[in-house]
Amino acid sequence: MSALVSTTERPQHEECEGQNGPFQYPSTVEALAIAQTGDINVIEKMTLPFPKVNPEDLVVKIEYIGVNFIDTYFRKGLYPLDHFPATIGEEAAGVIVTLPTDPEVLENPYYKRQQFKIGMSVAVTTMGTDETYVSIPWSRTFPTRGVSTKITAASITQIATAITFMSDAYAVSPGDTVFIHTIAGGLGLVFTQYAKHLGAKVIGTTSTKEKAELARRNGADEVILYKDENVVERVRTLTGGIGVDVVYDGVGKDTFEMDFQILKRKGTLVSVGNASGPVPPFSPLKLMAKNHKLVRPSVTNYVATAEEAWEIGGKVFNLITEGVLRVNIYKEYPFTTEGGRQAQIDLTNGKTMGKLVIRVSE
Ligand SMILES: NC(=O)c1ccc[n+]([C@@H]2O[C@H](COP(=O)([O-])OP(=O)(O)OC[C@H]3O[C@@H](n4cnc5c(N)ncnc54)[C@H](OP(=O)(O)O)[C@@H]3O)[C@@H](O)[C@H]2O)c1
Repeated sequence: MSALVSTTERPQHEECEGQNGPFQYPSTVEALAIAQTGDINVIEKMTLPFPKVNPEDLVVKIEYIGVNFIDTYFRKGLYPLDHFPATIGEEAAGVIVTLPTDPEVLENPYYKRQQFKIGMSVAVTTMGTDETYVSIPWSRTFPTRGVSTKITAASITQIATAITFMSDAYAVSPGDTVFIHTIAGGLGLVFTQYAKHLGAKVIGTTSTKEKAELARRNGADEVILYKDENVVERVRTLTGGIGVDVVYDGVGKDTFEMDFQILKRKGTLVSVGNASGPVPPFSPLKLMAKNHKLVRPSVTNYVATAEEAWEIGGKVFNLITEGVLRVNIYKEYPFTTEGGRQAQIDLTNGKTMGKLVIRVSE
């Protein structure tokens, strides 16, 4: 189903003189969007005005979209949106159709280093990526360096998250014991492979034997079936009663209390997400019992500048091309109302293993 929405919010661009020649913008884009927050039925494929193109922007024709749990937080209203209709999505990959026109940008040393060109494949990470065309500041755009747009859309956010959360949030070192909830999910499998690459021992939890097997194939040393086993007791046994160095927790509300029982003295809890709901307010005194540290980062704030985009983007694609990290794609969905809805249904019902993508065009 497609709905036409007023063009007042987003000025339409008819033509742009890009660095390598004129590009005739279409007047509209197709988008997976929401007119209000709510249940799964608020997701609609809509026809929206072509996005506003700022002088520092690249315009990218989208080929693949990566589906993330954060899409469900925005759709439900857990994370605020400042306008409607709002295109959903925060991760996609495609091909550059126009380059920035701002002379300052063209002289920026990081802009020059990225060697952006019309026709080059790039990843985009910004609010509202689930559209046929995205206009995005060049500093939030990453050349894919030969990696396909499908693999790129399936991996840029999660690999950038693993790199930054296992360095800035807590620096994983050889010999550390790392604990990962949702170990067979999209992020969990990337966390597992990257922690092994850094020399850590990996323990994680999941719900089924099939998921546990996939986590083991991706390097997990021990996988606990949290529905059948006592997680705290298993971790005590596996760590000789000491506990783990760091917990990566994407579940949130349901596992927060357990995290403090499995962390060792001076251990770090990296609160990653809210799959079961947000963690309720608590007193900082809670951290005093074993001198725990708590970090609640967002990958967007770790990869915020042109320099960080250059550095982290480069690392992401090197890890893929050098074969250090393998991207597990669970399923590809169509770019339709039903496809957008089904992807979020599948992600939130806990049945998926690895990453979900939506195919827009090729
Ligand atoms: N902070 C950041 O910048 C950042 C960046 C990327 C991702 N994240 C977070 O990382 C987490 C994982 O994201 P993802 O996209 O890779 O998702 P995912 O792990 O592929 O899917 C979520 C998994 O969570 C588990 N789960 C446990 N309790 C659940 C519940 N009550 N409802 C639904 N699922 C539940 C399920 O696995 P089991 O069957 O194993 O229980 C489910 O498959 C999310 O919390 C996300 O918000 C945060």
